[in-house]
Parts: sequence; C-alpha cells; structure tokens
Amino acid sequence: MAVLAINGGKPLCAKGKKWAKWPISDEKDVELVAKVTRSNRWSYDGPVEWKFAEAFTKYQGGKYGLCCANGTVGIQMALEALGIGAYDEVIVPGMTWQATAAACVDVNAVPVLVDIEPDTWNLDLDAAEAAITRKTKAIIVVHLYGCMTDMTRLMKLCKKHNLYLIEDCAHQHGSFWKGQGVGSMGDVSSWSFQESKVLSSGEGGFNMCKTKELFYKIYSLRNCGRSYAAEPPVFGLNKKVGMETAIQSGNYRLTEWQAALLLGGLSRLDQQVKLRDENAQYLNAQLAQIPGILPMRRRKEITQQSYFNFTFRLDAKALKINNAQFCAALNAELGTGDAFEIPYDPLNSCGLYKPLTKTRHKLGADYWKAVNPKRFKLPVCTDANQSCGVAVHHVMLMNSKKDIDLVAAAVKKLVDNIDAVRKLGIGPKKKYQALSR
Ligand SMILES: Cc1ncc(COP(=O)(O)O)c(C=O)c1O
Repeated sequence: MAVLAINGGKPLCAKGKKWAKWPISDEKDVELVAKVTRSNRWSYDGPVEWKFAEAFTKYQGGKYGLCCANGTVGIQMALEALGIGAYDEVIVPGMTWQATAAACVDVNAVPVLVDIEPDTWNLDLDAAEAAITRKTKAIIVVHLYGCMTDMTRLMKLCKKHNLYLIEDCAHQHGSFWKGQGVGSMGDVSSWSFQESKVLSSGEGGFNMCKTKELFYKIYSLRNCGRSYAAEPPVFGLNKKVGMETAIQSGNYRLTEWQAALLLGGLSRLDQQVKLRDENAQYLNAQLAQIPGILPMRRRKEITQQSYFNFTFRLDAKALKINNAQFCAALNAELGTGDAFEIPYDPLNSCGLYKPLTKTRHKLGADYWKAVNPKRFKLPVCTDANQSCGVAVHHVMLMNSKKDIDLVAAAVKKLVDNIDAVRKLGIGPKKKYQALSR
C-alpha cells in the first residue's frame, strides 16, 4: 500500500511542478490593446467592439450579437427583452452559478429550480416539463461545465409549450450541437467573458439574438435606453433615429480595451477548444478503466465540446468516500492547490443565492414565498455537490498528454488506496464558491 501525499507520502508529481496557467495572452493582444489606448475611441459603439461582435456571432452561427458588461446583466437583459417580468416563472437548473437565478429575481420573475441529469449535471428535461405551469414564460438552459442536455428535445419542448428558450453559455464558448453553435439555438443567449472563462477580457458579457427586434431591444437596454445607432451599421441593420423608441434602462456597455482582448482570444478559441476536447476524451478513456470512477456522459449529437470545467463522478457508495476527501487527496498528489474541487452548491442551499436578503424583491408575501429557494427539492444537485462530483478548471486540459497521464495515475493511486482516503477526516464539505470559477 502506498502512503498518500496528503498523509506525508511521496506525491505523484515532483514538488514545484508547473501546470498550465489561465488566462493566456500573446504579443498580438498587447498590440491590439495599445492601439486602442493610442486611439480616441475607448468605448461606446467602438469599431473593435463591433468587429468582435460580428466575428463571434458568426463563429457560433448566431444571427445578431452584441457585447455587454458581464454575463449576469446579459441574462437580465435577455429576460427583459423577452418581456419577462413580475411573477412570471422561469425554469432554471438547480446547479449553476447563482447569477442565472439571481438575474430572474432581479427582473421580479420567479426562478423555478429544477433538478439535473445525474450523468451530465445539465437540465433534466423530464423535471423541466413537470415544472411547467400557466405562469411559465421561459426555460433557461445552462450548458454547464463540459456537458449538454438534449438540445433537440429541449427546443421541441419549448415550441410545444410556447416558451422562450434562453441559453446561458457562460461555460461553453465553442460548443456545437449537431454542428449548430450553442447560443444560436435559443431566442436569446447570454455569455460571460470573466477572467476564468474560456474566452475572456477579465470581465465582460455578450448576447446573441434570433431576431433583429430582440437585438434592438438589448442594444437599448445596455445603452441607457437609447435607440440602436451603430455607425457604420452592423449586421446589415440600419440606424434607428430619434428618441421615440427609447426605453428606460442603465449602462451595461463594455470598453474597447476589453473588445481588443476578446478579438485576440477569439483568434485562438477554436484551437484551444479542440485541444481541451481532445485531452478530455483522452482522460475520460483512462478514468473509465478505474473501478469506482464514472466519466460524464457525452451525447452523440455533440460535434464539439467546450469545457469550462472538466468533471467526473465517484461511485461514492461503492468507494464509501465523499468528494471533498477525494479532491483534497488528489490535489496533494498533483501539487494543484485547490484546483480539483466539488461542483457548484445546489441553488436551494447556496451561500451566494439569497433572494430574501434584498428589500427590493419584497413585492408581496406571495412573491417572497415563491422565490424562497428552500422550497425546491434538488436531490441530484445535492448528490453531485456533497458526494460524487469532482470538477477542475479547463486549464487542466491545456497541459501535455504526459501531464494528463499523471492526473489519471493520481486518481488510480487514490482508488488503489481507498481505505486511506476514507480515513481522512474531511466531511462532505458545505462551502460556497467565493469565485465564479
Ligand atoms: C453559468 C454562469 N452564468 C452566468 C455567469 C455570470 O457571468 P459574469 O460573472 O460575467 O457576470 C457565470 C459566471 O461567472 C456562470 O458561470
């Protein structure tokens, strides 16, 4: 029996081993940013922003697209543009970053939390259909970590029940379903370019829209209510003149420097997504050989899979351990700090999803009751978070094949010495994600 690194044994990786780091930039990015600095266009319908918007929309196969401040307001504006407001119900998966549900509450809608599939951690479509009521206006699908739900069935489901489909694509720039880009399947999609994301400008967001009417609406929502006025016009859309179409809103724009970083990142995106996808499949093939380790399900319709996190599951009952113990031991073997971690808290017990702490949400006793996350049962989300789920940031998939072999070897070492992992005094961990990673 080998002694685990966490118990003072020899780690599988030499001390000081360098793992790939994120975010990545190159000299072309520095030049693009410098060019913006030297120009007198730093924001507001600038040429770099629109160049990026057109290129990114085309890459994902969308019709119209525009930048915004971050992925949280992107979801909020998607809801507002679709006319979703007070007391409307929106179906949201119980496992996601809290912003997906918080954005619904911020437009006074009611997020109805539904459970996820055990083998993809994406929206369970049976649970989603069962949650539809007369008040339901939309479903938000989150393409979570590195898996997808059945998008063909979901699109049919929305059509059948006359519901809007919003895609939260914060995790999956570069994913394709039957050759169709994520973000181009719903009525509106929302994206995040926050530092940890696979396409990043430190902070930033994006919306893609199916119709020009939705594009005009989101343009106004992100720009203090002003009418669309890109000059020269983008997506072949003419300028809307006058204030008669102006609406009430705030400022959710993005700067030209951010757009410059995004243009640089976009030139590398597809190649990086392909590398991660290849390494993920390579690692999954090795993990599948280890007893008690369950790779996630990859649907056959996925033509390219992007990974915000690489994830896998423990057969926690058979191994008689929990994921917090396993992650701690795995990080010690690999010298990866806290890189391997438990997945997101279920939204019915998430330390950062607290709709009842905000006075402006107190529309009435009935609303207060409806948005209380505790009323939802999310057993599969809870099991993934508290028991079986292991997640690691996508940069792990940007290491060499030899490094990926080390990850598989470390997992195997733990399984071969599972008694020692079991004895680690680490309980199922109740923590909230301080970072949106
Ligand atoms: C699934 C998901 N949705 C929405 C967001 C919100 O994006 P942002 O951090 O850019 O506001 C995040 C991000 O962090 C996310 O992971």
